[in-house]
Amino acid sequence: MSSNARHVPVMLQRCLDMLAPALTEPGAVVVDCTLGAGGHSEALLKSFPEARLVALDRDPTALELAGDRLKPYGERATLVRAVYHELPEVLERLGIPKVQGVLFDLGVSSMQLDEADRGFAYAQDAPLDMRMDQTAGISAAEVLNTYAPGDLVRILRAYGEEKQARRIVEAIVRERAKEPFSNSARLVDVIREALPQAAKRHGGNPAKRTFQALRIEVNAELASVEAAIPAAVAALAVGGRIAVLSYQSLEDRIVKQVFAAGATSTAPPGLPVVPERYQPRLKLLTRGAELPTEEEVAENRRAAPARLRGAERIREDIR
Ligand SMILES: C[S@@+](CC[C@H](N)C(=O)[O-])C[C@H]1O[C@@H](n2cnc3c(N)ncnc32)[C@H](O)[C@@H]1O
Repeated sequence: MSSNARHVPVMLQRCLDMLAPALTEPGAVVVDCTLGAGGHSEALLKSFPEARLVALDRDPTALELAGDRLKPYGERATLVRAVYHELPEVLERLGIPKVQGVLFDLGVSSMQLDEADRGFAYAQDAPLDMRMDQTAGISAAEVLNTYAPGDLVRILRAYGEEKQARRIVEAIVRERAKEPFSNSARLVDVIREALPQAAKRHGGNPAKRTFQALRIEVNAELASVEAAIPAAVAALAVGGRIAVLSYQSLEDRIVKQVFAAGATSTAPPGLPVVPERYQPRLKLLTRGAELPTEEEVAENRRAAPARLRGAERIREDIR
């Protein structure tokens, strides 16, 4: 199977349809904040021949591979190595004041999961790294070996929604005192042994939630999403549209809250006429979050947890 065939972009047609009304004018700019293998980006370039694409990723490998894939589009595609909350600086550097479309496809890419030596996958033994950008920050092994037990419990609970966090962390702390963690298989074994039988019967691989939590911590993912979504909304021109695909409830909650706040009037109660400056600046394009169809999930398991939310910018900020 070719690498493109394995990395099918999630809810692709829905994302394109959602952004379409904003991307038909000549000179429209669409930003793909999570380039990855370039699946969504390529489809954007194909579907909207008038549009220019700016695509970001923090992972140098993704930029390299997607760069090859998008070569045929020449100057219509500008690829930038950046963390997505740096979007305002990136646009300023490129001299782009406002954009017409923004797409986020959050989380880890199939490509990153497939590269066993990066340590994202609990199903393969590999060094516990999990950094999306291996040139910066600390690895998952360092987190496991050096964080205070209380911090590990907090991370597993908050980012992994792991009910057995305390039990798992006790086992980790016991084991790391014998020998620091370096590889994923040992962590998987320690988690499996720490959990009571009943907890192992539900929810797939028992290491899944701990791995998710470590990955989110290592890459400071939620802080980046929290800063990036409002920054993207701020970068939208009136009529511009944003679509965000999340894969776990913490990310989705942030997106939901930012969109809901933008779509709500900030007027104090009781005003007979709501002045312009209090009017909502976003219109929601999705009622709740949209889910992939059963057919898509049957064809692409990675799509299963996806939730898509969209919004349109309907008003300038009034200062
Ligand atoms: C799910 S993949 C995107 C897949 C892509 N839509 C496609 O069709 O191939 C997410 C990508 O976002 C990148 N990423 C994750 N967090 C990031 C951040 N804070 N800043 C920039 N890129 C990030 C990852 O490196 C990964 O390549």
